[in-house]
Amino acid sequence: MMSLVNIDAAEHDAETKLLTTLRALNIARLSRADFHRILLQRKEISYEFTGIYDAILSLLTKRAHSGVQAIRRIIREEYLDTSALPMGDMPSHREDLKSDLISLGISEQEFTQSDATASTLTSMLTLREAIKQLKRSAFPDISLLAFLRFWGEVLTAVEYRHFWHSRIESELVGRPSIFYWSHIVHDERKVKLSEAGSDTKNNTHSDELAAALVELFPSRGEERTEALHCVEYAIRIAVKHKVDFYSQFRPMDSPPRIARGMV
Ligand SMILES: [Fe+2]
Repeated sequence: MMSLVNIDAAEHDAETKLLTTLRALNIARLSRADFHRILLQRKEISYEFTGIYDAILSLLTKRAHSGVQAIRRIIREEYLDTSALPMGDMPSHREDLKSDLISLGISEQEFTQSDATASTLTSMLTLREAIKQLKRSAFPDISLLAFLRFWGEVLTAVEYRHFWHSRIESELVGRPSIFYWSHIVHDERKVKLSEAGSDTKNNTHSDELAAALVELFPSRGEERTEALHCVEYAIRIAVKHKVDFYSQFRPMDSPPRIARGMV
């Protein structure tokens, strides 16, 4: 019988898979140009973020009310303001992202001229396909929320934490990070799905969405197992999306393996 503990384990495996892919990029040792190239392509996906959240918001049903509210809050946070009557005086998270990229030594020109590669464009289209597919599953609300939480928050924090420790932290000495660090802190999972509760105080985005997600599970029997399978599937396509995106940066010059006994 499948349980949320199995889902915790599936998440752990998926994160390990992503980390293996990220480690293979050797980010600490890349040339500045190659490191910038990865950040600029990843930026293209970040610019899709609110669109993806809006797309999912438009597909959730009334049953997923807590999830809908959590997503609305997350989207609004992307465009902060200082008061209830908007002043327009705070940068959006994507403007913050640009500020961090400039602090990391990417020039205005490099930023402006950078375009999504064919692989990155494919990655964006794959996301849209994935969302449609999740909507067709046996438990669409559960599938969509599970995907959004894992793809948009849990794994995003894994990526940024890896970038942070392998390179960004040491490159930013003396300059503050206004995008990467705050997204690690706000997004990452603190509470496992099997331990998620309704106490959303001080919770990260991952945890807020986890609370909304577990509310939706049928309480027992075959239905619950089927719903858990939907979550497992959403986890699988979320990590596949990230792994496929990063595969465009795999080093091409690794020496060919020589078969034993062939020399
Ligand atoms: Fe954000």
